[in-house]
Amino acid sequence: MRIAVIGGDGTGPEVAAEGLKALAAVAERIGFAYETKHFNVSGDRYLAAGGDPAEASIPVIHDGEIAEMKTYDALYLGAVGHPDIAPGIIEKGLLLKLRFALDQYINLRPVQLYPGVDTPLKGKGPSDIDFVVVRENTEGIYTGMGGIQYKNTPQEVSTQLNCTTRFGAERCIRYAFEFCRRRNKKKRLTLVHKINVLTFAGDTWFRAFNEIAKEYGDIQTDYNHVDACCMWFVKSPEFYDVIVTDNIFGDIITDLAAMIQGGLGVAAGGNINPTGLSMYEPMGGSAPKYTGKNVINPVAAIAAMAMLLRETGNNTKNLTLVKAGDCVENALRAVTPKMASQAAGRMGMSTTEVGDLVARTIKETPQ
Ligand code: IPM
Ligand code: MN
Repeated sequence: MRIAVIGGDGTGPEVAAEGLKALAAVAERIGFAYETKHFNVSGDRYLAAGGDPAEASIPVIHDGEIAEMKTYDALYLGAVGHPDIAPGIIEKGLLLKLRFALDQYINLRPVQLYPGVDTPLKGKGPSDIDFVVVRENTEGIYTGMGGIQYKNTPQEVSTQLNCTTRFGAERCIRYAFEFCRRRNKKKRLTLVHKINVLTFAGDTWFRAFNEIAKEYGDIQTDYNHVDACCMWFVKSPEFYDVIVTDNIFGDIITDLAAMIQGGLGVAAGGNINPTGLSMYEPMGGSAPKYTGKNVINPVAAIAAMAMLLRETGNNTKNLTLVKAGDCVENALRAVTPKMASQAAGRMGMSTTEVGDLVARTIKETPQ
């Protein structure tokens, strides 16, 4: 198992270090070999190399680096983002660039309330908040199609196209059905879109969903408009098992979902190409104000490492890695109740202490 690591900016390297600590512990516990290589890709490097902070002027990541990463089994990202760099430069230059270049067409976001973690939803506990969002990750309004005409005149016109293909919707929907079957919980897959207004793109998704559903008689299907889905997340999150949705809707609902699972210190995601190179990351940003203080929450980064192991194992039929992922996640579940809070600086422990406790728990848990 070879893992390419991008620590990135701000607190990214700190949280990634705790995920790697969990990896070392589980590799020893379960017995598998791995190697890591750190790639120095970040907003810091972009600036140091003379990149313009106001507009993209040089590559954030080089094609040669991507080519080298492709020889690895998985990519593990801490966080990227720099307060001095204008919005969009790092996002487009790194995150979106990798998603497209590596055809990571799935964004997998588990939403689970770990034991002992506070949720703002009154009366809901870990058994109520336990679902997974499968977000399409390479199409929709993220392709950058469109443009601005008559810029800076009163006649200015801008279009941002929702590029939806049957191929793209279908491969995402199929992945979601397979995932729902493998998860083997409520066996319910909910399509989330806005077919009452997006009558073209929504129609492609809706027909693909219903046609593919016929191949999965064991999975119950359902449909929610995206606005209603936001309401149900708050009112009855226990209804959900697996959700499949398009790129922008998935982006938005997973931030809401992150809050009900305890915040950005806890939420992890995977940018997945099931037959290629996937990238796993904590959803929180680089949190510049906490950098170097040993107070940031590493739980999301450790959960991302658990996902990396489990999903890489599933995609390559390597049961040892699946087991390793489950082991890391079980250790996390044992550690979160011991933390005072999931908020940075209020955990009752430092970043490294949380990581140490997870590593110790991994080593001590009977198999
Ligand atoms: C996410 C982020 C990205 C997105 C940004 C940083 C481009 O919000 O991974 O959810 O919109 O997909
Ligand atoms: Mn987002």
